[in-house]
Amino acid sequence: MKDFVFLNGEFLPIKDAHIHVYDHGFGYGDGIFEGIRCYHGKVFRIDEHIARLYRGLKALKIDMPYGPEKFKEYMLKLVEMNEIEDSYMRVTITRGIALGLDPRNIKTEPTVFISTAQLSLYPESAYENGLTLATVSTRIANPQVVENRIKATGKYLINVQAKLESIQQGAGEGLMLTEDGYLGECTGDNLFFIKKGVIYTPAPYLGILEGITRQTTIEIAKGMGYEVVEGKFTRFDLYTADEAFLTGTAAEVIPMVECDKRKIGDGKPGEHTWKLIKAFREYVKNYTY
Ligand SMILES: Cc1ncc(COP(=O)(O)O)c(C=O)c1O
Repeated sequence: MKDFVFLNGEFLPIKDAHIHVYDHGFGYGDGIFEGIRCYHGKVFRIDEHIARLYRGLKALKIDMPYGPEKFKEYMLKLVEMNEIEDSYMRVTITRGIALGLDPRNIKTEPTVFISTAQLSLYPESAYENGLTLATVSTRIANPQVVENRIKATGKYLINVQAKLESIQQGAGEGLMLTEDGYLGECTGDNLFFIKKGVIYTPAPYLGILEGITRQTTIEIAKGMGYEVVEGKFTRFDLYTADEAFLTGTAAEVIPMVECDKRKIGDGKPGEHTWKLIKAFREYVKNYTY
């Protein structure tokens, strides 16, 4: 695997890619990002990731120098240049360069960056034995403050803080609740639980990230005949579930077996979860455009 990156219209070795110290992303967290998987040389659900990215850019009023089709070409070219088979792709876009937070001071185009470095979130043992979760006190951002459906870089300070809390509690991941105490999502993954063979997951209107892996898993599960219910749930629903799992680009589908020191079901990854993990792995193995 080679280490070229895309930066502002150029393909460069990563050591030659430099970002200005007055970049608004660096100074103010004023940007947006995407994490995307590449499986056997194919960029997984590329159109969905680009659509989510451009929705966020629109909401943040960041004017990209090129449209989604051109951007897709750059992503695919980087995959080809780096001879990527299986990897993680990171896209970061910031508003541009200026000191001072007033966007009118920015006289440059947005900073646009793509890389293909590998990322793995959890150890292999977590996929075999299941993750543990702890509820953290950091809540999902209230949309009156910042819209959580935008994958904004600055917003991720909240998630880093939540991650720190979960580490302090000795858990594998942190469970973030909505401001009024309903199940939301984890610091880098969406949450699912299963009861009597029915799959439940918090609804996007609660202000969670509309995960691409979440959507893929819902489609796969429905295709297997499962009923999937998107709604508003409390920790009681999770504590008393038979099985649970998380989904995310970096994590893929991972079993979750304990929350706040309560075993989920019998405390082992459940049979439906295994079926879904197997089906997800099969789906990505055969994924093509
Ligand atoms: C907060 C949060 N929720 C959910 C997800 C999962 O989303 P996706 O499946 O699109 O990676 C992520 C992934 O980055 C995330 O950061």
